[in-house]
Amino acid sequence: MTEPPDTVAAVDWAAYEQEAEDALARATSSEEVEAVSVSHLGRHSPLKLALREVRDRETGMRLNAVRQALEQAVATKLAEVERAELERRLTEEVADVTLPAELLGPVRARRRGSLHPSTQVRRDVEDIFLGLGYEIVDGREVETTRYNFDALAFPEGHPTRSPRQTLYLTDDTVLRTETSPAQIHKMEAQRPPIYMLSIGRVYRRDTIDATHFPIFHQFEGLVIDKGITMADLKGTLLYAMRELYGPEREVRFRTHYFPFTEPSMEPDVSCFQCGGAGCALCKHSGWIEMGGSGMVDPYLYEFVGWDPEEYTGFAFGMGIERTAQLRHQIPGIRPFWDDDLRFLRQF
Ligand code: DAH
Repeated sequence: MTEPPDTVAAVDWAAYEQEAEDALARATSSEEVEAVSVSHLGRHSPLKLALREVRDRETGMRLNAVRQALEQAVATKLAEVERAELERRLTEEVADVTLPAELLGPVRARRRGSLHPSTQVRRDVEDIFLGLGYEIVDGREVETTRYNFDALAFPEGHPTRSPRQTLYLTDDTVLRTETSPAQIHKMEAQRPPIYMLSIGRVYRRDTIDATHFPIFHQFEGLVIDKGITMADLKGTLLYAMRELYGPEREVRFRTHYFPFTEPSMEPDVSCFQCGGAGCALCKHSGWIEMGGSGMVDPYLYEFVGWDPEEYTGFAFGMGIERTAQLRHQIPGIRPFWDDDLRFLRQF
């Protein structure tokens, strides 16, 4: 067997180490450091070949010391150039965030959506009554005739009970025709004081035209406490109408009839367009009809088993779409349901 060439002895390891260190000192990039590492520490480098041929302990220790020193030098230099490279990129590759986006390339304008006008009114109304200490309650859209009619003192044969006017699901369940049944649920659940507001959809069997749609929204207020009078009703509506239509508004009552209130009134608000002088919006009367209201009929207290002498209260109900129509001069109810973005984007 022939002896392998004595590479160990053929190399001046001090010079080898120095040469590698000089090359590292000159290196300015991680690639150059890697190149020194490959040539002086890699699998085919003289050092690795020599290490494979080591026969004696002393030479082994000597070469391993060179290897360790060079590995250390490479690691140190690598960290150094990488840090320098990062710093260079951080200063050179700055993004100018003040640059208009169009200059950086094509941009697609992103349109911001807005709340549906009905939702805006709904939230405003909720805010007004939450501010007065009212509780917002959920009503039911599917009601029994008991709650939709009987409890609210609708007499037998009242036209609203007819399937021509009301959407019946079965003989004794309907899609509620008004938010007023929420009053009865509240009264069954809780004794006075009651200060509640219920908002939601109501359904009527109307043929669709410019001013009719079989679904719309109402808000319903109910207050029952000791010593509540019509003055409280009027003051509450005056406050709410001024919040909705401006601080100059006045409220007046016209007598009316609702089965579940006695007396019953329709509140009018002084026209916010002409200030009461008369214009097309108020049909030259100076007043705009807002909905229905009245003092809770004692029949309702008896229906839920209360002493009708103990409490008094008032209630009112108004349309959300109608409120939005008045606020924004929206003609008719159809646009609320057409999902036409040209309409909706205006709010
Ligand atoms: N529910 C009535 C309607 O839809 C409005 C109404 C009138 C509600 C008088 C009330 C009320 O709470 O007291 O026409």
